[in-house]
Amino acid sequence: MKPLLASLLATAVALALGTAAPGLLAADAQPWMDKAKTSAQRTELLLKAMTLDEKLLLLFGYASGDQLAQVDASIIPGVNAKEVAAKVIPGSAGYIPGIPRLGIPAQFQADASIGVRNPYLERTSLPSSLATAASWDPKVPEAGGRMIGNEARLSGFNVMLAGGVNLAREAQNGRNFEYTGEDPLLAAEMAAALIRGVQSNHIISTIKHYLINAQETGRTLVSAQISEPALRQSDALAFELAIEKSSPGSVMCSYNRINDVYACQNDKWQNQVLKGDWGYKGYVMSDWGAVHSTVQDANGGLDQQSGFPFDKVPYFAKPLRDAVDDGSVTQARIDDMARRILWAMFDKGVVDHPLQPGTIDYAAHAQVTQAAAEQSLVLLKNEGGVLPLVAPKRVALIGSYADKAVLSGGGSAVVTPIGGNAVPGLGPGGWLTQVWQPSSPMKALQKLLPATQFAFDAGTDADAAGKAAAAADVAIVFVHQWTAESLDAPSLSLEGNQDAIVAAAAKANPNTIVVVESGGAVLMPWASDVKGILAAFYPGSAGGEAIARLLTGAVNPSGRLPITFPASVDQLVRQQITGKSGGPLFTVRYTEGAAVGYKWFDLHGHKPLYAFGHGLSYTRFELGGLTAQASGAVSFSIRNTGQRDGASVGQVYVRGPQSAKWEAPRRLVGFSKLALKPGQSGKATINIDPRLLATFDETRREWVIAPGTYEVQLGASSDDIRATVKVALTGRRFTSAQLRR
Ligand code: BGC
Repeated sequence: MKPLLASLLATAVALALGTAAPGLLAADAQPWMDKAKTSAQRTELLLKAMTLDEKLLLLFGYASGDQLAQVDASIIPGVNAKEVAAKVIPGSAGYIPGIPRLGIPAQFQADASIGVRNPYLERTSLPSSLATAASWDPKVPEAGGRMIGNEARLSGFNVMLAGGVNLAREAQNGRNFEYTGEDPLLAAEMAAALIRGVQSNHIISTIKHYLINAQETGRTLVSAQISEPALRQSDALAFELAIEKSSPGSVMCSYNRINDVYACQNDKWQNQVLKGDWGYKGYVMSDWGAVHSTVQDANGGLDQQSGFPFDKVPYFAKPLRDAVDDGSVTQARIDDMARRILWAMFDKGVVDHPLQPGTIDYAAHAQVTQAAAEQSLVLLKNEGGVLPLVAPKRVALIGSYADKAVLSGGGSAVVTPIGGNAVPGLGPGGWLTQVWQPSSPMKALQKLLPATQFAFDAGTDADAAGKAAAAADVAIVFVHQWTAESLDAPSLSLEGNQDAIVAAAAKANPNTIVVVESGGAVLMPWASDVKGILAAFYPGSAGGEAIARLLTGAVNPSGRLPITFPASVDQLVRQQITGKSGGPLFTVRYTEGAAVGYKWFDLHGHKPLYAFGHGLSYTRFELGGLTAQASGAVSFSIRNTGQRDGASVGQVYVRGPQSAKWEAPRRLVGFSKLALKPGQSGKATINIDPRLLATFDETRREWVIAPGTYEVQLGASSDDIRATVKVALTGRRFTSAQLRR
């Protein structure tokens, strides 16, 4: 960053934080500052001391200063928007003023899930959330979340817009890379771990985008049409489980409509389900520009409007005050909105731990992101032991700027790389500029294999790629698919002539390996013609190093796919994304219900290219010792029968009886990753959450487990089951609330 800009920014942060200082009055004058009291008690005490205008102040958020400077100064009585604008950290997602008289700090919001996002701040980037989900080890996103939260706090942010957990229902969804896969249990475990890590820094994390925001095309126009049981058993279940496992301070409601009602004013899903059935105590903040009214949204369960002027109307500013005056929104509801925000601020430590910008330990964080990538990248194919590379004489690297960089996904999640964008000028531009992390796979490989000669070919011309491949002992072709927020992938095929480049290399060199940098699943028409395939997703700031260490065997691959890679698009529920952006309102009928991803493939007997849960290792594992109790306890063991240290994931699926009427034959009910030395074996025990065995009865708002015989399966992937046992269940009904007791 330029020194002048850096110092301006530091000043802006310091000024802004000045208003965030905690109350200095003695605890008896401000009894809510007494840390011995519970968050709920402190919140009630503080609420009593607040005026209506102060409560309203908490309910309305501002976007970054340059946008705000345009705004009419009188949108909130007594608040000058231009003065507020001066306090927003430049380039940040949002800001909510504090109330110094009461010791309430300002809220400084930033995006989030893979690192601190700000166009003016260079920060560490984790691999994409889909990549870290591929670790199948919650410790990985949890460590990543701790790192992000630490950088956030030291950068002056106390609310992180993280925790994307929407299921990968559409393979082409441009934001699949921001989410944690296609299965509700895996997605919930991984997103929850990230949120716990972020919040361990005494800051708030969101979970988002609530609910069923499954495509980017026309995201503000689409109505997701789906039955309640199907939603409860799929996308909503991912939120329900993740919220229980991580207690995020805030839930971000999404742009789309759910069964015709906008998510942010959806009484059913916000008031009845989230705050009612699930007992959620935190606050709902809107996505940026997702609010459509004052009264309907406030009464429909939205607690805080975000990022004005993204919504053209300041619904939760003066119009909300007017709605209170005319009785269309009650004072009790305003109290509830403020209560939820204050509770989160106390409970997550925002009030007690004032922000203090400081120096970030980038060297330590580079190790965190590299370790995350090393545990997450998935070895899809390894024929004839082409990998790991054993001191080849000549290696040709082809395509995707592999001499310089690795790709990031685009949109509000992209993190400005330390050292700047390694390949500037690509993509649609502006906030949708393609960002390439300056982490060179080629340089990293050169370090690890000093005796090998490396040649790089840009991969733009098939003949040249073929020649480069022919002149080497091993050809490694890097292919990429850039996806971004607000755009869905136009198709699952790689852009341009990349398939032809791979084909040319494969034809010229029998030892061809492909490294795929993508937002999610892509088609691989060349899969049977190459010997090795590594799914690198978007591997983060140290992605080049991680790729090199996996290819050379310095690290043994242990990632497993969190999504299905289809063999062709006609295996998908919908072959194309429905609707368009900028047109009229439209509907997508999710007729597959809860049969998302591998469940759909199982139901229809489709054989994918690479199944959910698939991933190879340089060693071998034996899975066995499967036992299961009617209580839901399942144990199994894994033995490393190969020659190298390695880690494997035991995946437990259950096949329900016909009478249970599940959406698909099988569901993932648990998993455990074990790191084992050669010859070593380890045992794991998991407890099945009863909701994973149930269907949802909409009329009685209860979960129902049907009596019958259930088959418990131990798999190395969803299509590689190694052992089964049967368990008889007597059947049972219960509510989500009963499970929390
Ligand atoms: C995205 C959110 C993000 C927000 C603030 C929106 O465009 O959908 O995920 O947190 O912007 O940047």
